[in-house]
Amino acid sequence: MRVIAIDGPAGAGKSTIARALAARLGLQYLDTGAMYRGVTFAALRGDVPLDDTEAVADLSRRVMLEVGDTGVFVDGVDATAAIRTAEVTGAVSKVAANSGVRTEMRARQQQWAAERGGGVIEGRDIGSVVFPDAELKLYLTASPRVRAERRVAEAGGDVEEIERAIAARDHYDSTRADSPLTEAAGSTLVDTTGLSVEEVLQHIVRLLEH
Ligand code: CDP
Repeated sequence: MRVIAIDGPAGAGKSTIARALAARLGLQYLDTGAMYRGVTFAALRGDVPLDDTEAVADLSRRVMLEVGDTGVFVDGVDATAAIRTAEVTGAVSKVAANSGVRTEMRARQQQWAAERGGGVIEGRDIGSVVFPDAELKLYLTASPRVRAERRVAEAGGDVEEIERAIAARDHYDSTRADSPLTEAAGSTLVDTTGLSVEEVLQHIVRLLEH
């Protein structure tokens, strides 16, 4: 099984790089953040209180998630745009801190890779917890301002406000008890500040050759 694990904070360029790298290597790509966003969308839509950890964990075990090139479908509903709204973004870290949800998502992610002989998988705990034996583990980051600017370029908004929201989410993700965002043992740090997508890709391809 050939797994490339890409972790890092919000706006570091993980999705762009993971998608391009997968195409270059002939592997499939999985955005695990979209899975946590999908569970969050389902909980909000079903009026499941996010503080009710057992109810949210139970929902995560029942929900049908399809995360792929054509979009993100939650119980058959196209949620591609809805999972990126400020409402979901503001709630996702709480859902992702729920251990019952994480256990279920981890199992689904491992099954996804096993069925495909691997893939390029991005998230927060991929190299540290989900695939500790990945062929290559990358920790992508960039300066907080650059990460906020990338988000504004994609989705609009005020740079300073987005920078604050990203910092709050990164702090929450990094300090939770279960599978916090961290640089996994054996991972390579790639600071994408000031680098183009092509430059980052060339750097990663060189790392794979060694
Ligand atoms: O796109 P962005 O980097 O803003 O976030 P994302 O990758 O869509 O992930 C959304 C949220 O899901 C993160 O802030 C984490 O709380 C959670 N997440 C996680 O806990 N573990 C993962 N493997 C992926 C995402």
